[in-house]
Amino acid sequence: MKRILLLFLALCLSPALWAAEGMWLPLMLKALQDDMQAQGMKLTAEDIYSVNQSSLKDAIVSFGGFCTGELISDEGLILTNHHCGYGAIQAHSSVQDDLLTKGFWAMNKEEEKANAGLFVTFIVRMEDVSEQVLKGIAPDMPEAEREKLVAARIKEISRAATEGTHYGATIKPFYYGNEYYMFITETYEDVRLVGAPPSSIGKFGGDTDNWMWPRHTGDFSLFRVYAGPDGKPAKYSPENKPLKPRHHLPVSLDGVQEGDFTMVFGFPGRTQQYLTSHAVKLLMEQTNPHRINIRDKRLEIMGRHMKANDTVRIQYASKYAGVANYWKKWMGENRGLHQLNALQDKQALEAQFTAWVQQNAERREMYGNLLNRFAELYQQQERIGLADTYRREALLGVDLIRLGSSFAPIASGSMPATDFTTQRDRYDAALQRHFKDYNVATDKELFVDMLLMYKQNVPSEFQPELLQKIDATEAAVKAYADKVYSQSILSSQKRMQEMLATYNPKATAKKLRKDPGFVLARAIQDIYEKEVAPVFASTDPELELLYRRFVAGLRQMHQDKLFYPDANSTMRVTYGIVDGSTPQDGVKYRYYTTLEGIMEKEDPSNEEFIVPQRLKEIYQTKDYGPYANEDYMPVCFIASNHTTGGNSGSPVIDARGRLIGLNFDRSWESTMSDIKYSPEICRNIAVDIRYVLLIIDKFAGATHLVEEMTLVDEAAATEKVELLEVD
Ligand code: ARG
Ligand code: GLU
Repeated sequence: MKRILLLFLALCLSPALWAAEGMWLPLMLKALQDDMQAQGMKLTAEDIYSVNQSSLKDAIVSFGGFCTGELISDEGLILTNHHCGYGAIQAHSSVQDDLLTKGFWAMNKEEEKANAGLFVTFIVRMEDVSEQVLKGIAPDMPEAEREKLVAARIKEISRAATEGTHYGATIKPFYYGNEYYMFITETYEDVRLVGAPPSSIGKFGGDTDNWMWPRHTGDFSLFRVYAGPDGKPAKYSPENKPLKPRHHLPVSLDGVQEGDFTMVFGFPGRTQQYLTSHAVKLLMEQTNPHRINIRDKRLEIMGRHMKANDTVRIQYASKYAGVANYWKKWMGENRGLHQLNALQDKQALEAQFTAWVQQNAERREMYGNLLNRFAELYQQQERIGLADTYRREALLGVDLIRLGSSFAPIASGSMPATDFTTQRDRYDAALQRHFKDYNVATDKELFVDMLLMYKQNVPSEFQPELLQKIDATEAAVKAYADKVYSQSILSSQKRMQEMLATYNPKATAKKLRKDPGFVLARAIQDIYEKEVAPVFASTDPELELLYRRFVAGLRQMHQDKLFYPDANSTMRVTYGIVDGSTPQDGVKYRYYTTLEGIMEKEDPSNEEFIVPQRLKEIYQTKDYGPYANEDYMPVCFIASNHTTGGNSGSPVIDARGRLIGLNFDRSWESTMSDIKYSPEICRNIAVDIRYVLLIIDKFAGATHLVEEMTLVDEAAATEKVELLEVD
């Protein structure tokens, strides 16, 4: 409490200090309220997060655990990204009825489509439980002992907090375990697909425009949460009723202006802002360049096969997008880290820390050896870095090898027949999924090139003997590939299914022990367990401990500074302003894009840039309804909110708590922000809510969906302000 008070005082003295950077737990916002209001916010921290009354947080959900969604009507309507709903939309698609290509609009509730396995999670409340979790744990307690104790307490605190309720509880470490917070959750499992634009809108620009500004993607889809008759979570049932949420976001028709206050509410996945220089160096000089090279090759091969064959094009579309997404992100990240001198900055901070530590004996005792030890541990990890990266990215990037690894328990004979029987369906389903999107020729070419790269880059001591014996020449690896792909049952759905149908632990294992595909998968796993995994096992826990101390030290050193915890898939708020940027020398970004720009990018010969006929008509007749400005029909905008993966589908909210956009990406120059944020450069990308409304209303004719939302414009907003504004 005292700390918060201090921070609060510090904040009052220099409100501009905290602008933009940071992903805050909603319950931390009291300390930031002044700064947020100085930047234009008309709400209070209590309007955003309250334990006692409905607040903005009640309209925000974790969507399926990997994205964010928000409630936009009092009938459980949820807005998220097209790329977040992609899996669900694809699952309802077939060649005859391809919803990805055509789009889908439920014209009434009966037409909405159920999605097995999809869920949304609300946060009921959150609580700082550091004291309970850490009571009596001395800083020098051995890490293993600490871990055990912490796990036991987490279990007990969660149990006590949820006993007799239908709620769940998650407790996670923050600041590397210096603090712990508990989240009480409510999860709904009946989530139905309501609407999705065709990919020519929802994925317009495809991989070419991914991570890029200027952007013109209508990256949204609509779902609806259903509850049991009592309003509580219930399994899917036709009897279920649309959920009446505690809050839903009013939708603004007023648009955005440069300089407007915005905040993004959601579930960012992972950032690593406290990494030491050693880790950043390893990432920039080893991990990123190698995984980018590997993916270059994978994309080249997949792309070529997709171009040559339509079936392959569809089969590999999602894989390709997944590989391309982070390939491009890492390139941007490395570039950005160089541009910002991230390494030198980290080193400077560490020098400053060292000088601070040297100032007294107590600090020397506590932190004296910290940085040396970081250096030693990262040196150990550097030794196995390539072995790890090439296993993960190159070898397991080959479908045949990955399938062999996931069937390892069967191949080893370690799975009793009874276990197999209970898991049989799971294995069958896995095979179907695998082979539905599998092409042997593509995979075999990947196999050859990935093995070659592996052999050329991984020190031989970390290569299984089996691979050491093969020459690092194309001819030798090709000959080996011929053998594996002709003999292994892993390349054939039929033979894999036969194996499952006749499964017998001993006999099957005996047969698979001679299968060259399983032999290879096994050898890769063995060498990993023998040479690589133990290094992580002996360094990671100590690194965790070192970071815990380092971050504690940094906070002590800069007591005037508010430190935000790294993203860890918990609910966060970040705020910034609508703003263009100058991301590179000579390049200036305007803050918005328009429908005009979609027409400029149109290319009927390129799948990524097809503009649907109906959208062209709307453009030609300027049939924009209330959704356009005087001068243009808006599509996307950028703002200085600090976001990351997982923030997809997050609402962009204005100063009064109204929905103005839907977050879906960052600009390429921003992608280093997971490690180092720059307020000048970093911009999140959102689709303007008015474009979303235009597509639902004018393009799809799903006007009934717009009608169930709470649309507000300036006049109505003034009323709202009275309700919400600070006195
Ligand atoms: N870059 C965005 C994110 O990280 C969008 C990815 C989906 N779009 C794509 N073209 N692959 O998830
Ligand atoms: N597209 C990302 C997601 O799926 C958000 C972009 C980012 O990483 O900022 O969460």
